[in-house]
Amino acid sequence: MKLPFAESYKTKMVETIHRSSRAEREQWIKEAKYNLFNLRSEQVFIDLLTDSGTGAMSDKQWSEMMLGDESYAGASSYYKLKDAIKDITGFEYFLPTHQGRAAENVLFSTLIKAGDVVPGNSHFDTTKGHIEFRHAHAVDCTIDEAFHTELDYPFKGNVDLNKLETVLKQYPKEQIPLIIVTITNNTSGGQPVSMKNMREVHAMAAKYGIPVYFDSARFAENAYFIKIREEGYADKSIREIVKEMFSYADGMTMSSKKDAIVNMGGFIGFNNKEVYDKATMYNILFEGFINYGGMSGRDMNALAQGLYDGTEFNYLETRIKQVAYLGQQLRDYGIPTQYPFGGHAIFIDAKKFLHNVPKEEYIAQTLGVELYIEGGVRGVEIGTILADRDPDTGKNRYPDLELLRLAIPRRVYSNNHMDYIAASLINVFDRRNEIKRGFKILKEAPILRHFTVELEKL
Ligand code: F0G
Repeated sequence: MKLPFAESYKTKMVETIHRSSRAEREQWIKEAKYNLFNLRSEQVFIDLLTDSGTGAMSDKQWSEMMLGDESYAGASSYYKLKDAIKDITGFEYFLPTHQGRAAENVLFSTLIKAGDVVPGNSHFDTTKGHIEFRHAHAVDCTIDEAFHTELDYPFKGNVDLNKLETVLKQYPKEQIPLIIVTITNNTSGGQPVSMKNMREVHAMAAKYGIPVYFDSARFAENAYFIKIREEGYADKSIREIVKEMFSYADGMTMSSKKDAIVNMGGFIGFNNKEVYDKATMYNILFEGFINYGGMSGRDMNALAQGLYDGTEFNYLETRIKQVAYLGQQLRDYGIPTQYPFGGHAIFIDAKKFLHNVPKEEYIAQTLGVELYIEGGVRGVEIGTILADRDPDTGKNRYPDLELLRLAIPRRVYSNNHMDYIAASLINVFDRRNEIKRGFKILKEAPILRHFTVELEKL
């Protein structure tokens, strides 16, 4: 008999999670103003809101916590992290920050001014938020294939080189402070960017004299897909692939809460000492002294170890196969998902799922609320609410895709949990034709409204 695939780790500590009744959930979500962010975690049975900071650290990471050096300046933990970043990514200079958006804040304070244009592949919402907050514009140059969920294409995160070159030709160099390539591309479905595409973007950027920064939250998952899908990389190790990937960037921002498997942390990596020196001032102002930047010594130690844990092939294989295990069950039932499955999450195509709900009533949010009521499973809307209003017109922006994201925390849930999630969604799918109305917004913030939006059921 062929031996089946099995996880490459076992469990040493457990946490109780809470079941609830449908009637309780109906009441709770109403009290939460139909915003899944407003639920208390005890009101959720399986939490797929995010894979950010929700992973389980390894025994090695926990032992590193005990060795943390909490000195304000010159802590050994800082040097341990600096060495790990250099070793894994190749970047010579780095600044620690408390999370990914803080890295964006520091880097963009250094590079971006009002009126600038920042091309990229579906900038993540905090990235776009930090760009627009500075009265600059994010221009999406993702390939069109990304927006056809059924289309089987191996690197749906790629940058469209024609779209990119159009932007680079349209604006003077002084108005394009950087290009941001997000690996993997979260917004388009946790989709990877190929090595070839990174190489070509880097070459084009060099031709126009513009630096490239990688938004690297899920860089290791991206490397896994390159190894599995791109010709010439099958025999390379994840760490060799990661090194080559970063050789095509001038710098990186990192939310360590994803692929470095820590609960909090981030950093910026640079090759350019001048940019690093300038960014240092903002880091001290916003985050803390450059030897800790918003993290304690123990956090930096766990992060340094997490960079090694997160770039092990066996770990990545276990993780990405679990995501696909869930995705395949949904697909087998005919539930429309972004395909091929991404690295960190399954993205349900809500427009195809709930075809009776008008887009003005927030389709993906409606599906998210239905799934919560059905099984106590919490996903997140990646759709019109997340897209915010156009800063110039004040009108809702309707993105090409209305997605419900089911993000899988790292090393946390079992495949029985995946079966439960699939069954919950299948039950909603079976009654999809009866779901005809969505929501109206009662209250919203001007930027990043999805976190605090209040809704009324129509
Ligand atoms: N870039 C990407 C691609 C992200 O996915 C995130 C966060 C950030 C930057 C910001 O990092 O949260 O540490 O400040 N994504 C989380 C998510 C929140 O749920 O996808 P952060």
